[in-house]
Parts: sequence; structure tokens; C-alpha cells
Amino acid sequence: MKNLKDKKILLIICGGISAYKSLETIRILKKNSCEIRTILTKNAKEFVTPLSVASLSQGKVYDDLFNIENESEMDHIALSRWADIILVAPATANTISKLAKGSSEDLASTVVLASNKPIFLVPAMNVRMWEHSSTQENMRILKNFSYKIIGPEIGEMACGEYGEGKMSEPIDIVNSLESYLSMIGKNRKLKALVTAGPTNEYLDPVRFITNKSSGKQGYEIAKSLLRNGFQTTLISGPTNLKIGEEIKVVKVETAEQMFKETQKNLPVDVAVFSAAVADFKIYQKSEIKIKKEDKLELKLEKNVDILKYVSNHNSMRPKLVIGFAAETNDLENNAIKKLKDKNCDMIIANDVSNQKIGFNSDLNEVTIFYKDNKKEKLLTKEKSLISEQIVERINNQLN
Ligand code: CTP
Repeated sequence: MKNLKDKKILLIICGGISAYKSLETIRILKKNSCEIRTILTKNAKEFVTPLSVASLSQGKVYDDLFNIENESEMDHIALSRWADIILVAPATANTISKLAKGSSEDLASTVVLASNKPIFLVPAMNVRMWEHSSTQENMRILKNFSYKIIGPEIGEMACGEYGEGKMSEPIDIVNSLESYLSMIGKNRKLKALVTAGPTNEYLDPVRFITNKSSGKQGYEIAKSLLRNGFQTTLISGPTNLKIGEEIKVVKVETAEQMFKETQKNLPVDVAVFSAAVADFKIYQKSEIKIKKEDKLELKLEKNVDILKYVSNHNSMRPKLVIGFAAETNDLENNAIKKLKDKNCDMIIANDVSNQKIGFNSDLNEVTIFYKDNKKEKLLTKEKSLISEQIVERINNQLN
């Protein structure tokens, strides 16, 4: 497991009967040359002792938020920055609930809240607790925060009941971390480009034709690509959205500008065209403000199809080209036609006749059509979750 070598793992152990498995997890991580620091929640100390954790991990064990000694050596912010990965194992129903609420009442929840690092949760609890709708709702929130979830497994539990809720085995936990790091390592060498938002097509210096696209889905895809290690460029039409500094953002207004900036940012390995590019621009835009008259006739001409240009490029076609299709009717036929006409590897189609999802909403529901005739529906969920799933598909296709 070469990707784990020298990685700094902050392990948070919560108070559950499966806490004993974290000792074995520490042992395997140490064998793979990880540096480990551990936080024990108050209840965790009932199940494992700080001394056994410190001896096995050969690293510092923290247990109290306001411990002067700890805070002067390394405060909770520094501790969350120190880690390459934060691993919460076992993650109990109580901690899951705290994390979903964004609580900061103890060191474990404060460090997670303050973290900008990948967070892995390994849930472990009784089957009824796991299946309870409040736990399931908390898990949905945490997935939406892009926390990664390992398990739980189905099996016989310490309490004697059988079902889903059993903590994953230490070796499976460590394998999950290794494959995540390996995927990130490969992706760091890859470039991704995303177009997003609407375009404005000017009639005169102050008036333009545009559309209702908010750009949210494209921005979320760019964020997911970054989280998955890709060097990401976002070419964005006018939106009110903000995005972190690690993404190269190029702001444009018209389709023509979006096309030029896309060309400038080639070659890339993956290109996702989520922008709602206006199909037409004004033929001969007026250089001065148009005055009111009884009638105004507009002559339009076609904009260049940016996606088609890139997907048919002789020397710079990305390994993966992904297009979007917004349809009000006959979704499947229209999407498959677009997939072929535009020479895409994947088309992500959404039904824009439903006002509650899609345009200008935080929710989306899409069907992905693949080049090999497969299709897959991603049911209604937050755009941030849809984008995580899309990027998961991108990773699969690249491998
Ligand atoms: N696209 C593009 N450049 C354009 C037009 C569209 O890159 N000038 C991309 C979009 O970003 C999206 C896909 O092509 O990925 C959508 O195709 P398009 O034909 O524009 O879809 P619709 O506008 O829905 O087409 P139609 O009106 O024919 O349904």
C-alpha cells in the first residue's frame, strides 16, 4: 500500500463496542508507515485506553478540547490542518448526529468542523439505530458535505442482533484509504475543464438575451473534480456563485468568449460542458443603444458549438468529453441523439419540465447515457451529491 506511506492520519475514536477494532486499524496503518494522532471522545475512553492507543500509534492522544497543554502545543485548528486524512472510526450515532449539525461541543466535532481535509466516517451501531430515519437523514447531510463513508456491513452485532450497522473490518478501512489516495494521486496529474452558467448575447451595449441557468450544477462538478485531485479550470458565464481559490476560474459573458477561453485552456484530460450556451447570437449587434420603435426585428445567427468543437478536435480531444442535455420531452431519444451527434463519451440529461428540480434549484435528477449504450438514473438529490456521483463515474471511466 504505497500511497499510505508517510501520510498523516488523524483518527477519531468514538465510544462504541467496536472501538476495539480501531486498535487493529492503528496497527495496520503503522505497518504502512502512517503517522497517527488520535482523538478519543469521552465515551471512547470507556472502551479503549489512551495508553493502549498511544503505545500502538506512537503518537499523541488528545481527549479534551480545552486542555491547556494540548492547545499550547497544537491547537484544534492546527490539528485539523496537520492531518492528510481524518478518519472517524467507529463513528457512533451520537457523533454522526453532532457532525451533521455542525456542532463544536467537544474536540472531535470541533476538529471535523474546522477541517478542510478529506473526512472518512466508519459508522458502527445497532441495526435499529442505523436504520432510524434520523440517522439516515444525518448520513444524507454528511454525504452532502462530501464526507466519505466506509460501511457499515451487514452481520451479527456485539449486541446479538443481526443486520446492517456492523463496523467495517480494519483491513477494509485501510484498503479504502489506500484506493482513495491512489485515485487522488493519479488524478493530480490530470487536467479537467468545466463550462458552467448561462451566456449573455448582446443586442446593443446594454441589452442581452440570456437563459435561466444558475450554473450551480457546473460549479458543484468543478468542486468535486478538485476534491478528487484534478487540476480544474472553470469557464463560467455570469452567475452569483463563489468558488474556492484552488480552481482556476475564467469569467466570460458571451458564447464567443466562452469558446475562446475554452480553446485557450486546452488540452485537458476531462471536459464537462454544463453551460447553457445560447444557441444563437445577434447577427450584427448594434454598437449604440437601440431606440424605441413600434417594431424591432432581430436577426440571429448560430453560435459555435463549443462541445462539438472540442469533442471533434483532431489533436486535443480530451480522453473524456461529457455533455449535458436539458429536455422537456422525449428525454431518452433526444439525449442519445445528442450523445452521437456531439461525439460525447457521456451525456447527462435532465428533465427541465419539472420546475422543482434542475434550473435554479439546489436539487437535480439526471440520467447518464454512455457511449456503450448503457444508461443510469441518479435519483433526485442535492446538486453537490449528483456531482460527486458524476465524478465517481468519471473516475471509473478513466480507469
Ligand atoms: N453546448 C456548447 N456550445 C453550444 C451549445 C451547446 O458547448 N453552442 C453544449 C452544452 O454545454 C451542453 C450541450 O452542448 O453540454 C447541450 O447541447 P444543446 O444542443 O445546446 O442542447 P439544447 O440547447 O438543449 O439543444 P436543443 O435545443 O437542440 O435541444
